[in-house]
Amino acid sequence: MRVDVVTIFPEYLSPLDLSLVGKARAAGLLDLRVHDLRSWTTDRHRTVDDSPLGGGAGMVMRPDVWGLAVDDVLGLDAGADHAAGPGAGSGGVELVVPTPSGEVFTQRTAERLAGANHLVVACGRYEGIDARVAEHYRSRGVRVTELSIGDYVLNGGEVAALVVVEAVARLLPGVVGNPHSLVEESHGATGLLEYPVYTRPPQWRGHEVPEVLLSGHHARIERWRRDQALERTARRRPDLVRRLRPEELDRADRAVLGRLGWDVGPDGPEPAAPGADDTGS
Ligand code: ADE
Repeated sequence: MRVDVVTIFPEYLSPLDLSLVGKARAAGLLDLRVHDLRSWTTDRHRTVDDSPLGGGAGMVMRPDVWGLAVDDVLGLDAGADHAAGPGAGSGGVELVVPTPSGEVFTQRTAERLAGANHLVVACGRYEGIDARVAEHYRSRGVRVTELSIGDYVLNGGEVAALVVVEAVARLLPGVVGNPHSLVEESHGATGLLEYPVYTRPPQWRGHEVPEVLLSGHHARIERWRRDQALERTARRRPDLVRRLRPEELDRADRAVLGRLGWDVGPDGPEPAAPGADDTGS
């Protein structure tokens, strides 16, 4: 996969040299290029922003500078349709624009993006990027996704770009050494948060590892982990419990949920009493 990140702070992306993503780059699994947006400016001051039309606080990033940058990294001639450009590929091209006003980035989004063969991540600063940039590339046949990594406001898209690139890169074949570790983790296929994990020593500062994990009894361990995952999810993320599919919940699952105040009806789990899924926050 090729990934181009465009930013006015290329150094912000230096963590992508490290760890699994760094290794994936070195191994040629990920062709990641970080670009300085200012290299597409044409004025002496290398200006990337201007005041908002219609008034208001802050500055807005200029569409002309972004247009030159994105055309270049996509391999497009200005104004040409994407399908005609040399950047087009079978897995598709996606322009990702991190913004607090975007749709929420989830593991499903990461899975979808991992199927593209070229991602361009456009990191905005200030009040964001002129809205015509997303509109323009959509009209040219590029899939454009404006993504928020959560309901809080950062100073720019760079941290979100790190999040997106790491979440996507670890799904590429060969990046995570043991692909089985992707199966049971939180936000995976079970729809549950992951169960708690332990390692040696079995006693530490007076805290014991749950005895079942030392029993060698695989079926009991599996059931205990499932119970823990259900319990954790019910306490921390009742919104995820509501989305569980009833046909995927066995009798033992229903008993655990029942103890935690959930009934499983034909449409899935529902709190037995109104307000039972309140997180208390
Ligand atoms: N830029 C600023 N805040 C952001 C957020 N929450 N998600 C994505 N990009 C952002």
